[in-house]
Amino acid sequence: MPIVFHVPPTDLTASNTLGLSCKARHVVELTSRDQLARVSQRARESGQTLVLGAGSNVVLPEHLSGLVVRVALRGITLVEASPDAWVIDVAGGENWHDFVRMTVANGWNGLENMALIPGTVGAAPVQNIGAYGIELDTRIESVTAWHIPEGKIVEFNRADCGFHYRDSLFKRAGLGQWIILSVRFILPRPWQPVLAYPDLLRHPILSAIPVAEVKASQIFDAVCEIRRTKLPDPAVLGNAGSFFKNPVVSTEKFKALKTLFPGLVAYQQPGQTYKLAAGWMIEQAGWKGRRVGRVGVHTHQALVLVNYGQATAGELLALARSVQQSVLQQFGVTLEIEPVVVAGQGLEAEHCLHIK
Ligand code: EPU
Repeated sequence: MPIVFHVPPTDLTASNTLGLSCKARHVVELTSRDQLARVSQRARESGQTLVLGAGSNVVLPEHLSGLVVRVALRGITLVEASPDAWVIDVAGGENWHDFVRMTVANGWNGLENMALIPGTVGAAPVQNIGAYGIELDTRIESVTAWHIPEGKIVEFNRADCGFHYRDSLFKRAGLGQWIILSVRFILPRPWQPVLAYPDLLRHPILSAIPVAEVKASQIFDAVCEIRRTKLPDPAVLGNAGSFFKNPVVSTEKFKALKTLFPGLVAYQQPGQTYKLAAGWMIEQAGWKGRRVGRVGVHTHQALVLVNYGQATAGELLALARSVQQSVLQQFGVTLEIEPVVVAGQGLEAEHCLHIK
């Protein structure tokens, strides 16, 4: 399979859901595993490497001089259908939502709560996506990845992936080192609907059906509907979903905050900790719906920062820093940026409190 290294520069503005203007010098499209050795060779020559799926969880600088690898590997295979589980292998370049829709259509239930999350299957374990009561890592059996520096395939079982809330080893120290080639999902049978998330509990259609009769397709539809009302469509308004993580604090900190702010929204976590709804705090700090030049805080969901058009990463991160400072001042809580911020020209570390 020939490999095409694009002649520079390539415009990646349409290749990241925030729609940030970005020009890259070396871009390669990965369509076959046969090309991997050449990618590693090229990466060694280029220095910094960025592996790009659908660009739905990245903040890109205005200029990228390193190698950009766009993963376009395809294929979905049902490898096991036992009474205990459906096991499915999916290539990293497949679209996440299309894959979830296919599983529900085939009766391979268990991913429906994560419908309509933008991005590719390969990017899903990197940030360990999750929504409406299900975190991706609970549905993963293994991940097959190419280690770019050493030029070899490595098989990770779930425990080896270093999964945490919106985090994995691929996102932390391993950033730019791994190309996720495929993900093996394990969907336990018999299927149990997950309906405990407040938005699902109060959904008019779901709440009217006895739990034993709820179908995965109904959860899929409800999640799509909820997400469409709260989250902006990146095709219409540039965004990367939640721009901040929901911070996890100790019980003491939670109790102290709850006394000061009785309306504080928080969820108890294992290990005597509480996850605070950052969106609520950002809204209380007066940021919801505010626009600063070409960027702003979304009108319906304060956790989402948006690009009104032609914004740069610097502008977006300056807004993020203002939001972080307000929340720190009012609540004494540090908000951590959720997407991967890619270093490069036009993006200096002082733009934000936390930069990966
Ligand atoms: N809230 C506000 N104001 C806001 C936003 C939220 O008061 O502007 C309150 C809500 O009323 C609710 C609470 O905060 O009581 C939580 O809000 P929501 O249920 O919308 O969820 P979230 O914490 O904002 C998280 C994920 C989303 C995921 C939803 C649903 C993170 C960082 N975000 O958002 O994931 O879709 O839960 O499970 O964990 C993403 O990661 O990109 C993402 C969209």
